[in-house]
Amino acid sequence: MLEISNLSAGYGEAAVLHGIELSVAKGEIVALIGANGAGKTTLAKTISGLLPARTGEIRFEGARIDRLRPRERVLLGIAQVPEGRQIIAGLTVADNLALGAYARHRSLGEAGIKARMDEVCRLFPVLSERLLGSAGNLSGGQQQMLAIARALMIRPTLLLLDEPSLGLSPTLVGEIFRLIQRLRSEGMAILLSEQNARMSLAIADRAYVVEMGRIAMKGAGQELLGRPEIAERYLGVGQAVSDQHDRRAEDRRARLAAGLARILPGAGSAGG
Ligand SMILES: Nc1ncnc2c1ncn2[C@@H]1O[C@H](COP(=O)(O)OP(=O)(O)O)[C@@H](O)[C@H]1O
Ligand SMILES: [Mg+2]
Repeated sequence: MLEISNLSAGYGEAAVLHGIELSVAKGEIVALIGANGAGKTTLAKTISGLLPARTGEIRFEGARIDRLRPRERVLLGIAQVPEGRQIIAGLTVADNLALGAYARHRSLGEAGIKARMDEVCRLFPVLSERLLGSAGNLSGGQQQMLAIARALMIRPTLLLLDEPSLGLSPTLVGEIFRLIQRLRSEGMAILLSEQNARMSLAIADRAYVVEMGRIAMKGAGQELLGRPEIAERYLGVGQAVSDQHDRRAEDRRARLAAGLARILPGAGSAGG
C-alpha cells in the first residue's frame, strides 16, 4: 500500500532523512521507533506532504505521490495524526471533527459530514457527549482521541500516527493502543511512530528503528522486542554484562510482557 524508496528530506540546510526504504501493507501496523530527534516526525511529514521529498519515491497503491500536495494525498486516503495532537482549542469538538473532513466538504456536504461525525463518535463515545463543548476543555487523553477521530473523518486507508501515547496515563495509552489494533482489524494500514517502543513493538506486525535519519534495523515487532540491542537502547532494560544480568533482563522482559498482556488483550498474538 505504501512503498518508500531512497527517500531523503530535511529542513533548509539540514539534511535529516537519508535513503529511507520502508513499506506498509494493508491491515498492517508498522512501528517506527527511535530516540527523540531521530527523524520519525520528519518522515511522517514527508509522507503526508507537509515537507517535500528531496530524493527518492513515495508510492501509494502503486502510484507516485511524492509530488502531490498534502490535500491531494488526503483525498487518496492518507490521514495524519500529528505529534502534539494540534487540535484547535478555541473551536468546538464538532468543528475540529469537521475540519478533518475539510478536503471532502464539497462532496460530503453538511449532512455527509454529520454522518461521518456520528460514525467516528461510535469509536469515541466520550467525544459524542462533548461535541458542542470547546476542544480546549478536553483532557489530554480526550484531545488525543479527538486528534485520531479527526483523522478518521476521511475514512483513511493509511493512518500516520505520530506519538499518540505521549503524555497519557497507562490506562489511556492502553485504550488508544486497543483502538489502533481495532483499526488494523478493519483493514487499515497504520504507521505508528512512538518513543514508547515497548508498547508499539508489542502490537506491531513489523517495525523499523530510525537512528540519525536512517533505518538502522527492521524486523517483526515481537522479534525486535526480543533483541538485546533493542532492549538496551530502547526499552530501558540496561546492559547485560553477565549471565546473571542476562537472566535478570530476561525476567524483567517476561514480567513486562505479562504486564502488557494484561493491558492489551491479544497483544501476545498480534505481533506475528
Ligand atoms: N522545523 C524544523 N527545522 C529544522 N530542523 C528540524 C525541524 N524539525 C525537526 N528538525 C530536526 O530534524 C531532526 C529530526 O527531528 P524529528 O523528525 O522531529 O525527530 P523525531 O520525531 O524522531 O523526534 C532533529 O535533528 C530536529 O532537530
Ligand atoms: Mg517526533
